[in-house]
Amino acid sequence: MLAAYATAINPEDPLAGFEVGELEPAAPPADWVTVEVRAAALNHHDVWALRGFGLSEEQLPMVLGCDAAGVDPDGNEVIVHALVGDPEWPGEETDDPRRSILSEQHPGTLAERVSVPRRNLVAKPPSLGFAEAACLPTAYLTAFRMLFTKARLRPGETVLVQGAGGGVATAAIILATAAGARVWATSRSEDKRELASRLGADAAFETGARLPDRVDAVIETVGEATWGHSLRSVRNGGRIVVAGSTSGPSPSADLPRLFFRELEVLGSTMGTCAELVRLVAFLDTTGARPLIDRTIPLAEARTGLEAMVAGELQGKVVLQP
Ligand SMILES: NC(=O)c1ccc[n+]([C@@H]2O[C@H](COP(=O)([O-])OP(=O)(O)OC[C@H]3O[C@@H](n4cnc5c(N)ncnc54)[C@H](OP(=O)(O)O)[C@@H]3O)[C@@H](O)[C@H]2O)c1
Repeated sequence: MLAAYATAINPEDPLAGFEVGELEPAAPPADWVTVEVRAAALNHHDVWALRGFGLSEEQLPMVLGCDAAGVDPDGNEVIVHALVGDPEWPGEETDDPRRSILSEQHPGTLAERVSVPRRNLVAKPPSLGFAEAACLPTAYLTAFRMLFTKARLRPGETVLVQGAGGGVATAAIILATAAGARVWATSRSEDKRELASRLGADAAFETGARLPDRVDAVIETVGEATWGHSLRSVRNGGRIVVAGSTSGPSPSADLPRLFFRELEVLGSTMGTCAELVRLVAFLDTTGARPLIDRTIPLAEARTGLEAMVAGELQGKVVLQP
């Protein structure tokens, strides 16, 4: 089948080990189901994989991709949840120490077909197109969990979204706006600040700018470059939810500010299948939709990945097999 896959790990030049061509992965476990992919979406996770995070040389070649929507063997339109774990694990999938994300241990979604355990399939409502549905399982699910499960955001509260141009950040702006929160965003780029406003942010500021007031919660995926600003911007007893560190992983913790102002710092990764079901229902009822930068054939996946590495995107890249 046609697939976009990693043939080599290269920390400096991730695209050097990226190919699109014919690849037939090993047969999946007998009790898994195979979905005909109608749309898949790129994530920064694919670039991290090509750099060697979460993917090792012994697993190559590996089909990349965490996000897909398609049709199951019974003809149902489905969205694929990307976390694969131990079926016996009693808690949330996100806490399962044996969990992996599609394309780390099992072939990913950037292909004509993807196989997963049946419990990973979520019904796609007719109101969502395949391209929109394919954007949800990573960036949108991560933002959904950060906002509503971890930050416990309520309508009327103010949330600060750092790095407005990122995939998770744009998702957070769209979802928080639809939920009735006041959304403030930061970005280094004027274009992206304008984008944030178009998506519903009440105000957009330059990265690091002093805000008019302290916020109830912060959505932090940028890391070192914005961490100090996040700590300074949140109100006493407020919540900072962290799911990424694009600009660097080791900022100053500023412990006195943390304990003296009783801040909550919460880590967050992906989301559960139950949260994906709630996210789909949320979009179905509110009419909010993912922001898509472009939809291109799977065969042209390299151009989408190049644009992502260059930081040129405004929204998701959707691939159609
Ligand atoms: N834990 C999880 O489950 C999970 C899920 C998805 C993603 N992630 C992680 O979350 C992070 C964000 O991913 P993403 O795909 O949403 O976006 P991204 O493209 O990695 O970038 C996020 C934003 O960070 C800002 N930024 C980057 N470098 C910066 C710098 N030096 N100074 C100031 N701002 C900077 C940029 O915002 P502006 O250009 O607007 O300033 C950029 O749009 C990644 O590290 C990703 O691996 C984690």
